[in-house]
Amino acid sequence: MKKISIIGAGMTGSTAAHWLAERELADLVLVDVVEGMPQGKGLDLLEAMPIIRKDVKIVGTNSYEATQGSDIIVITAGLPRKPGMSRDDLLTANADIVRKAATETLKYSPNAIYIVLTNPLDTMAYLAMKVTGLPANRVIGQAGVLDAARMSAFVALETGVSVENINCYVLGGHGDEMVPLTRHSNIAGIPLREYLPAERLEAIVNRTRKGGGEIVNLLKTGSAYYAPSMAVVQMADAILKDKHLIVPCAALMQGEYGLNDMYFGVPVMLGANGVEKIIEYSLDADEKAAFEKSAVSVKDTHDALRKLVTF
Ligand code: APR
Repeated sequence: MKKISIIGAGMTGSTAAHWLAERELADLVLVDVVEGMPQGKGLDLLEAMPIIRKDVKIVGTNSYEATQGSDIIVITAGLPRKPGMSRDDLLTANADIVRKAATETLKYSPNAIYIVLTNPLDTMAYLAMKVTGLPANRVIGQAGVLDAARMSAFVALETGVSVENINCYVLGGHGDEMVPLTRHSNIAGIPLREYLPAERLEAIVNRTRKGGGEIVNLLKTGSAYYAPSMAVVQMADAILKDKHLIVPCAALMQGEYGLNDMYFGVPVMLGANGVEKIIEYSLDADEKAAFEKSAVSVKDTHDALRKLVTF
């Protein structure tokens, strides 16, 4: 059995464990600083397994030893947004948490692939790569899978078409400047731009961009976790099964799309090596402009991180 350790057993981490266990994809370790909480959630989940006849070992712990030999490390440890906060407001608090989670887990799982969810997402993925010294293909930020899922859900609500027919692509940083691609996104092969009237499409694009904030405002005490954790499952599944699945994720830019030394949301091919390949879409002038605008704000957060932390 493969092994996935999830650092941060809060809403996103424990819900990811729930979805993963149900799929019998890997044995699971939940790590959190809160005493008793990961142990309790882990045991409760373990006790659910006989009901669904799944042989998954699940352990909750406050230390890192049990993460030994993990194939995948998922980092969801950190503070979530509260109403009125941007993802970038979390930078200072979460940088320390992510550094610790990344370096501690590396001691026990030198061959793991990292999936980072903690916000501000692109920058935290960059930090995890830097502090572990891992090659960039082994540290992936999760954002595009989630943002694309949100967009697909809104398209399905608008059109009544099955989500199975809806393919959405959202690139750029995981912030309000993200870039939902309306030309590449399609319903059964028909570009969204042709399928939907411009103003309806515009509304969907705007709702997608603010999708995380919409949930934060509704929940008031935390941020989204069902869709973010399901996105973890899709990524982990692609990696563990070496599927070579193309999905938008945050990856290190090394000249792709004209960007360098920063994590950014682009289509990547996920397989056993993590990021097997970065796919470069041809973008038209409008798409390029939106992409560049998003890159500026993500670059600013990387710059703020570099001032805050020495690697
Ligand atoms: N090590 C391990 N766990 C930690 C640490 C640490 N150093 N610091 C905090 N945690 C734990 C908290 O105790 C909490 O249980 O991280 C967990 C975070 O869970 P939630 O507060 O429920 O937040 P969640 O909604 O899961 O979001 C986690 O993902 O989407 C992002 O913006 C979100 O950065 C946030 C992260």
